[in-house]
Amino acid sequence: MLNAEKNRILTEVGPDTPMGGLLRRYWMPIAGTSEFTEEQTIKAIRLLGEDLVLYRDFGGRYGLIDRNCSHRRADLSYGFVEEHGLRCNYHGWLFGENGACLSQPYEDVAHPDNRSRERVRIKAYPVQEKGGLLWAYMGPQPEPLLPDYEAFSRPNGFVQIVISELPCNWFQCQENSIDPVHFEWIHNNWNIRQQGKRGPYSAEHREVDFEEFEHGFTYKRVRGDASKEDDPLWNIGRVCLWPNALYTGSHFEWRVPVDDENTLSICWTYTRVPRESEPYRQDVIPTWHGPIRDRDGRWISSHIMNQDFVGWVGQGVIADRTLENLGASDRGIAMIRKRYFEDLETIAAGGDPKGIIRDPALNHCIDLPNVYAQKMKEGASLETMLNDPIARRHLEDYIWQAGQPPEVKAAYLSAMGVPASRGAE
Ligand code: FES
Ligand SMILES: [Fe+2]
Repeated sequence: MLNAEKNRILTEVGPDTPMGGLLRRYWMPIAGTSEFTEEQTIKAIRLLGEDLVLYRDFGGRYGLIDRNCSHRRADLSYGFVEEHGLRCNYHGWLFGENGACLSQPYEDVAHPDNRSRERVRIKAYPVQEKGGLLWAYMGPQPEPLLPDYEAFSRPNGFVQIVISELPCNWFQCQENSIDPVHFEWIHNNWNIRQQGKRGPYSAEHREVDFEEFEHGFTYKRVRGDASKEDDPLWNIGRVCLWPNALYTGSHFEWRVPVDDENTLSICWTYTRVPRESEPYRQDVIPTWHGPIRDRDGRWISSHIMNQDFVGWVGQGVIADRTLENLGASDRGIAMIRKRYFEDLETIAAGGDPKGIIRDPALNHCIDLPNVYAQKMKEGASLETMLNDPIARRHLEDYIWQAGQPPEVKAAYLSAMGVPASRGAE
């Protein structure tokens, strides 16, 4: 249980709030690079309670600037890009990715000596590209390094990015990153019940454990009669990645705050192609938007992350932690809450919070705990994958989220060397 004040501190993300300050000290994934094309150059986006616009100009530069023009506040998501910068559609002021005003058409022509545009700036945040994602940094300078996780340079794989906007606070989503027991219920057993069966239920969690490491926490589990010794889910575990993600080895899930009441879920999934399809080089990492409601307005509950979403939105727009009752299964949740509060103290004392990387020598191909590391290194033949029930499911369906567009599925099956008719089975 948390008191109301602590709950407020953990969940507020605006520019002048403690957690807003903490989250702004990290690079946040905010979009897929493949969302931007010759025709699609501008995206209105709200992040950490700030209305912004993300664009790619004709020169290929990405910019993230204030949604409202510095002249008289017109909406820049209706502007248009130029070779360099984004131009307001109202009176043509042009802004660059560093916030400089590059042109004020009337002033430049009629009063060039005034050089008035040199006195104007617009709010602008740095953007970088990595892993098919666009990342923003909204914190104080000097900016830290954008983490170079090993997964981003993995060869021979098909990567896809799925984005959904959830109507709830980011922190209840992040608490799911250190919650082993939910898997047994909201995924395994609810699947059984959604199939119309009353049981038997899946293997019970016998023991869970949580450990802190440099880039976050790991959670470990043993279920049913599995032996601890050779269970990677006990020996290696999954990663609650600091400060706002889950990493399972095959995929990342970031929970990026839109504002106090909405969260951008950004999922990045890697699937290694069968050995027969190697070497494989992916030209474009597709980005698609996952629906969260069905036609009746109910939450979709067929896929793993959709099931998680049902859990999170069900906790309320901002979960009231004064009413909760934590058990032994929630020890990890208590640990991360404590760690965020310690980070807030570190920041108040002028230090860097957990996991910030500033030394380039430490930012090369960062290995995170990964239960699939060995399998991913070795690869497998198509036949082996089709004979393994889990690998086969991944080949035939995108199990994480509902709504994969047919063209992404077709590209995936083609990368895997699976005939399209097989994927539809
Ligand atoms: S409001 Fe943007 S140029 Fe005038
Ligand atoms: Fe889950």
